[in-house]
Amino acid sequence: MAKPLTLEKILFSQGFGTRRYCSDLVYADLVKVNGVLAEDPEEKISTENLQLQVDGEDWEFHEKAYIAFNKPTGYECSHKTSHHPSIYGLLPQPLVERGIQCVGRLDFDTTGLILMSDDGQFIHKMTTPKKNIGKIYEITTPDPITQKQIDHLLGGVVLDDDPKPCFATACVQKDEKLLAMTIVEGRYHQVKRMMAAVGNHVASLHRTTIGAYTMPSDLPEGEWRWLYPDDLVQLGKSVDAL
Ligand code: URA
Repeated sequence: MAKPLTLEKILFSQGFGTRRYCSDLVYADLVKVNGVLAEDPEEKISTENLQLQVDGEDWEFHEKAYIAFNKPTGYECSHKTSHHPSIYGLLPQPLVERGIQCVGRLDFDTTGLILMSDDGQFIHKMTTPKKNIGKIYEITTPDPITQKQIDHLLGGVVLDDDPKPCFATACVQKDEKLLAMTIVEGRYHQVKRMMAAVGNHVASLHRTTIGAYTMPSDLPEGEWRWLYPDDLVQLGKSVDAL
């Protein structure tokens, strides 16, 4: 059972600003705790199933933030972007304030599932190739995909910056120009470079799945949702096949 914390500390931990600012939010009658208007920022509160409301917005308490985000095209996965807006601009300010980071990046023109967290250990666990966590990408190509190309992807492709080949651990051709490919590593532009190396190209790229967790079909583009312990179990599962 989590130790009760003062309301001010709780608000601070969730990214609502400095501790002073969080106190002021309470004094300004802008905070509700489980539906009841809070009066004292020093009041100790249980964080178990805690529902906050801050300045009219409902906020579920999460000791660590784990979220799934459906990335639209045209956004960069960094804070300081060079050419396109940042995905962080699509998230609520408290998540950004508490230091949420992408678990591996997607290119600005790639769409689909991206995980974000403020738990450094989780980020490390999810990004190390040792864990064998597969990521499934749906690749639309300009040219028909051949069996020879698929065999090449499964057999290993050498990219120009590393003599060690990278492999697709599974390939499922869904249509003449649509391939679902699973990879475990996350090298720079890996899918695009693998496709170019086998003599085809990527017209559009969409990530559907990480581990055994697939993007919820009811999560619209540009929206996010909390991940719960069961989701984290799915994410941590290593998958070698679709
Ligand atoms: N591989 C790519 O080439 N781009 C991505 O965004 C992700 C994987």
